[in-house]
Amino acid sequence: MKVILLGTAAGGGCPQWNCACAQCTSDSPPRTQDSVAFSTDGRTWHLLNASPDVRAQILTTPALRAGPGPRETPLRTVLLTDAELDHTLGLLMLREATDLTVHAPAAALHALTDHFPARTIIGEYHSWNWLPATETTIDGLQITSLPISDKQPKYARASTHPGPWVVAYRIHDPTTGGTLVYAPCLRTWPPGFDAFTDDASLVLLDGTFYRSTEFTTATDHANPAAQHAMGHVPITTTLPLIANRPGSTRWAYTHLNNTNPVVDPAGPEHAAVLAAGAELPPDGTEFTL
Ligand code: MLT
Ligand code: MN
Ligand code: ZN
Repeated sequence: MKVILLGTAAGGGCPQWNCACAQCTSDSPPRTQDSVAFSTDGRTWHLLNASPDVRAQILTTPALRAGPGPRETPLRTVLLTDAELDHTLGLLMLREATDLTVHAPAAALHALTDHFPARTIIGEYHSWNWLPATETTIDGLQITSLPISDKQPKYARASTHPGPWVVAYRIHDPTTGGTLVYAPCLRTWPPGFDAFTDDASLVLLDGTFYRSTEFTTATDHANPAAQHAMGHVPITTTLPLIANRPGSTRWAYTHLNNTNPVVDPAGPEHAAVLAAGAELPPDGTEFTL
C-alpha cells in the first residue's frame, strides 16, 4: 500500500491565519491540515479525513490529480475519524465528485446531517454513499476502526447522540503485510489501543500539543482548562509509551497545532521526539507499507 501524508497540522494549519505568535511568524516549514491518501495500485485513491486544504493538497500531489478522462478523478473513498470541521470541511470542496463513499462514526454521520448539514448540501449535487465506520474492505485492504472518545465538535456539543464520536482506523494490506494506523485525535491512550497498534508498520498519532500547558502559555487564553477540554493528549505523555513499545512499528506525529514547538525543526522539542525514536514527517511524505 502507498501512503501519502497530505497534511500534518491541526485545525487552522501552520502558520495559523489569525495568529501572530513567534512560531506562526517564523520560517518553520508550513503544514496544511491533517489528511492522508492511500492506495494499493496508485490508480484509485482513498482519503483519511477531508481537510479544508484538500484542493491544494490534491493539486500538489500528482497521483491525486484528475485524469485520464476529462472529468475522471482517482478519489473513491473518504474515511472520517470524526466530524470536526478541520476533518470534514473538505467534503464540501469535493461536492462535484460524482461518486464517493464516506465512512464515519454514526455520531459523525448524524452531526453532518443535523448540526453541520454537509450531507444535505452535498446531496443536492450528487448521491454519495454515507456508511458507518464498521469493518470493511477497500481494494482488498482490510479496514477496521477503534472507538476512541466521545469528544463532540463544538458546533454539535448540544447533541445527545451516543458515541463514539471519534474513532481511529487500521488499514491492513494482506498482500504486503503492511498496516497503517491513523489516530489524529486521542484524548488519552485509549483502552484497546495497544492491541490496535500491535504489529502496525506505521502509526500516525495525535501530536496536537507537546506539553499539557502549551495552549494556555502560547496564547492569551486565561483558562488553563481550555487545552484539556480540547481533548488531545500531549506528546510528553505519549512519547514514553511509544519508546517502551517493542517491535518494529514506526510512530509519527500528525495534527500538529501551531502552538506546538516541534514544528520548528531546529528546536529542542523536535530533537527530543526524534531522539525517542518517533518521527515528525512533513506534508508530502510518502510511505510504502
Ligand atoms: C480539535 O482537533 O480539537 C478540533 O479540530 C478543534 C476545532 O477545530 O474546533
Ligand atoms: Mn482538529
Ligand atoms: Zn501561532
